[in-house]
Amino acid sequence: MSPFRAGSLRTVVVGAGAMGTEWLRAIDASPDVELAAVVDLDASAAARAARGAPSATTLDEVAADADFVVDATVPAAHFAVTASALRLGLPVLGEKPLAETLPQALTLAALSSLTGAPFAVSQSRRFEPHLTAFKSSLGSLGPVGSLTTEFYRGPRFGGFRETMAHPLLLDMAIHAFDTARYLLDDEPVSVYCDAYNPAWSWYAGDASVNALFRFASGARYSYLASWCATGRDTSWNGSWRAVAERGTVLWDGDHDPASGSGAPNTLLASISGSLAAFVDALRAGRRPATDVHRNVMSLAMVLCAVESADTGAPVRLDESLARAHAAAVQAAAPDVGDVLRSWPSVREALARG
Ligand SMILES: NC(=O)c1ccc[n+]([C@@H]2O[C@H](COP(=O)([O-])OP(=O)(O)OC[C@H]3O[C@@H](n4cnc5c(N)ncnc54)[C@H](O)[C@@H]3O)[C@@H](O)[C@H]2O)c1
Repeated sequence: MSPFRAGSLRTVVVGAGAMGTEWLRAIDASPDVELAAVVDLDASAAARAARGAPSATTLDEVAADADFVVDATVPAAHFAVTASALRLGLPVLGEKPLAETLPQALTLAALSSLTGAPFAVSQSRRFEPHLTAFKSSLGSLGPVGSLTTEFYRGPRFGGFRETMAHPLLLDMAIHAFDTARYLLDDEPVSVYCDAYNPAWSWYAGDASVNALFRFASGARYSYLASWCATGRDTSWNGSWRAVAERGTVLWDGDHDPASGSGAPNTLLASISGSLAAFVDALRAGRRPATDVHRNVMSLAMVLCAVESADTGAPVRLDESLARAHAAAVQAAAPDVGDVLRSWPSVREALARG
């Protein structure tokens, strides 16, 4: 029997910024979920976003009334917020990225196994209907040999993205990398990445990237992208080309790949789909589709691309994962350390969940 109460599940939203506000709209629109409380380090932001519901500056104060947590904090807070929710036995639906580092990501996977509390990363783009159509149109064409994303836009965000190292890889690329894993139904083994900053760039860090991944099947995935490209923008999902044994499929990222028509998906629709899938999985006692174990490899693609860009050399993902596992074992609490040490290999533990 599901441990969750009948009727709506109650959620605490942690992080009352831009994405927290989107999540609150999705919760308002959901027939399955109601708001228990909003938490933010900034008490007045939490109270404003809660609009009369309880608010607090720490999860501990409001956890007793919650069935699960939505973590929409900044990436630097993801590890601490998710770890404390899992320790309280609360399932977590977290914004990307899973965590800032691979040792943290492996620790959270182990902590989710230890506590039995599910943790899913909301890769909301997986819930876009045009992406599902793109994947099904590949289904009849045999194995995919090469997959390419071109992503070229010139947004002026201001704020942290313009000062951070690797803004495009760390803040954006995970959407495309996770989509590539989904489309190929396969896992990456190595990456070579060249990241650079054109002379006119308004970013301090490298805002342009050419990355080439090799997948286990031998398929190659190329990510050609820039956040300081002006004119002829691609969609936010990028433009895709999949070359398979019996044909090629194109997708502009916004419309149905076969007809080229249909409305672009909205962020609200995507995160609503992600929320509904998470609640269904909780009620059915199933692992969510974007469970932490399954999401680690998307984060690994990002962080190994950064490593390759910084060193100028190709990176084998298994080597990075092995180093991350050793660091996680070293830093973990004894109970989580025991789980990590029991893993036959990182890949096997992640595949098993
Ligand atoms: N899926 C998407 O398409 C998408 C789009 C934009 C952002 N994001 C992700 O959403 C997350 C939030 O981004 P944002 O743009 O809303 O940021 P933001 O800065 O607007 O909001 C973050 C909020 O978290 C709060 N916060 C920070 N540390 C906290 C802690 N320890 N406890 C409680 N509150 C804390 C901050 O006070 C702030 O109000 C990021 O991880 C970002 O990558 C996802």
